[in-house]
Amino acid sequence: MPSLPYSPERIVSLFDEMPKTYGAVNLISSFGFSHLWRKASVLSLDPMMNHRCADLMCGMGEASVLMLKAGGPSLNVDAVDFSPEMTKRCRKTVSRLKAGNISVHTRNIFDLPRVAVYDRICCSFGLKTLDEGQLAQFASLIRTLLRPAGKAAFVEIHVPEQRLFRDLYLFYIRHVIPSIGRLCLGNPDCYRYLARYTEDFAQRDCFADYLKEAGLKVTVRPLFFGCARLYFAELPELISPRGKGIVGADSPRH
Ligand SMILES: C[S@@+](CC[C@H](N)C(=O)[O-])C[C@H]1O[C@@H](n2cnc3c(N)ncnc32)[C@H](O)[C@@H]1O
Repeated sequence: MPSLPYSPERIVSLFDEMPKTYGAVNLISSFGFSHLWRKASVLSLDPMMNHRCADLMCGMGEASVLMLKAGGPSLNVDAVDFSPEMTKRCRKTVSRLKAGNISVHTRNIFDLPRVAVYDRICCSFGLKTLDEGQLAQFASLIRTLLRPAGKAAFVEIHVPEQRLFRDLYLFYIRHVIPSIGRLCLGNPDCYRYLARYTEDFAQRDCFADYLKEAGLKVTVRPLFFGCARLYFAELPELISPRGKGIVGADSPRH
């Protein structure tokens, strides 16, 4: 099988094709679990009043909205995604909100300023779009962006370990989900690619190790028999695990 492309250009063009169908296909094909898993990951962060938060690889901003609901309208959320079509949808969603402050940025997450400004970071279903090198880079970026005592949660579709269930599951994501994509008038090839990114990520999943190497305290929780995983990372309060003293102490809260 040819290797999967992970260049920003390829990933942007894939997601620029998907906004019209992504929300519906995701929800229907996961039997509503995608929403529940996103919500579980946001709630694990326990966002509170005045927290500065980031929703990285935000897509259409579903997790940003959940963060605002959980933490209240005084929360500030930076929603970042490099697909112009996804962020266009995200801005539409944000414009319909009655209260709350979500700023949407069309930007590569790796171009974010490396300053510790965030109390909470969430990332839902974006990990699979990163190759091994980018995943390690992402873990170190998270460490840099978090303020002392900051928390980050990442949820990603995975592949169950139990043999029979895994075979059924792989058949489902390889063949049934692309058909659901077609029924929703989307391009089934995009959903075929998503299945391949999911399988590839599950096979080489070292993300928790990268987070630990970056100096974060990490826990990993399988969701629904291993169909998804929730990675939770925390930066200890005040003392830098890399021995550089107080981390981000000079970063003002915005
Ligand atoms: C599967 S979607 C997830 C969208 C959304 N977070 C959700 O909960 O459904 C992955 C998103 O990651 C974005 N993405 C991937 N790599 C990125 C990068 N390096 N910088 C910014 N966005 C990126 C893609 O454009 C896409 O919108």
